[in-house]
Amino acid sequence: MRIADFALERYFARWEFAVEHLLCASDVEGWSLADLLATADPETRTLWDGLRLGYTDTLGHPLLRTQIAGLYENASADDVLVVAGPQEAIFLLSHALLEPGDHAVVAWPAYQSLHEVARSLGADVTLVELREADGWRLDPDEIRRALRPETRVVVVNAPHNPTGMLPSHAEWRAVAGLCADAGVHLLSDEVYRYLEADPADRLAAGCDALDRGVSIGGMSKSFAMAGLRIGWIATRDRGLLDRCARLKDYTTICASAPSEVLALMGLRARGAVIERSRAIVAENRTLFEWFVEGSEGRFAWVRPRGGSIAFPRLVADESIDAFAAALLEEEGVLLVPGSVFGHPGNHFRVGFGRAGFVAGLERLAAFAERRYG
Ligand SMILES: Cc1ncc(COP(=O)(O)O)c(C=O)c1O
Repeated sequence: MRIADFALERYFARWEFAVEHLLCASDVEGWSLADLLATADPETRTLWDGLRLGYTDTLGHPLLRTQIAGLYENASADDVLVVAGPQEAIFLLSHALLEPGDHAVVAWPAYQSLHEVARSLGADVTLVELREADGWRLDPDEIRRALRPETRVVVVNAPHNPTGMLPSHAEWRAVAGLCADAGVHLLSDEVYRYLEADPADRLAAGCDALDRGVSIGGMSKSFAMAGLRIGWIATRDRGLLDRCARLKDYTTICASAPSEVLALMGLRARGAVIERSRAIVAENRTLFEWFVEGSEGRFAWVRPRGGSIAFPRLVADESIDAFAAALLEEEGVLLVPGSVFGHPGNHFRVGFGRAGFVAGLERLAAFAERRYG
């Protein structure tokens, strides 16, 4: 298989653990093991204390699958496959759904694997562009126009990385309706679900919205446990789930035994887990809003409707690549320039999930003041 480098992941591989201030992470400050274990109920405590480090059930621990199914309206444990992080879900689903000559429609800019794996399989990919001028809105009409007889899947990530886009309920119903009418799968990447700025905007999950709807979820972002490397696929299309399970025999076979038990604890404590994540993100998002408002027009943004990130724009007359490189060099602060997403604008990704956000933001503000003040 030939596949292009994953630019964002290469960028993080180079910088994530080398910089002082990570101002662009998409995950939420990770839980400590001790704090998570303190949430255990008698059943999960017994599972943890008696854990044996053998292989696990390839479909996922039955209790974990049941717990995940409980996140959805219309799913049972048999509609859930546990995988080694949402990234594996994208890989398996792309392989299960697409072959040369097939067509995929993907909202863009995007987390690269959402279109790159499809391309590597010989599928033709139409990118439906989100534009800042439209408030990064996803236009169902553009999706409709992109559909072809050979379209197999429409791919949407919402809340969206990197823009924070979140369709309205009506727009989402329209997208689901288009997919149902065309008989194509809707691959809904929901790793930022529960981080909607207004919880009333939380969308119906893909697997609930239509028979061929597929939800990708995981512990990494809203659940603040990226290190568990636990994700899942939820869909009522049992044939598709079975194909993914067979492909998984060639990737990871089964999930990590300790991680499955810890994910079960995290999901059982999800009220507190989500509340903590939402509080961190909300505070940092407000701090960033003040920064933009006080920047005398040097920065502009569309306030994200959801997720842990945003895609603001450097308005000053300088490329964001040059600005970000100098900021990194002089202040040890990391942003993700839009070019890492293959995006031509002067945007950058900023992430609100981390505890040290304010210190990095102060450095960014001081740097911008020195540079343009
Ligand atoms: C939209 C989206 N989907 C999937 C993933 C992959 O998640 P993980 O790295 O936890 O597998 C990410 C990670 O950034 C993401 O932003």
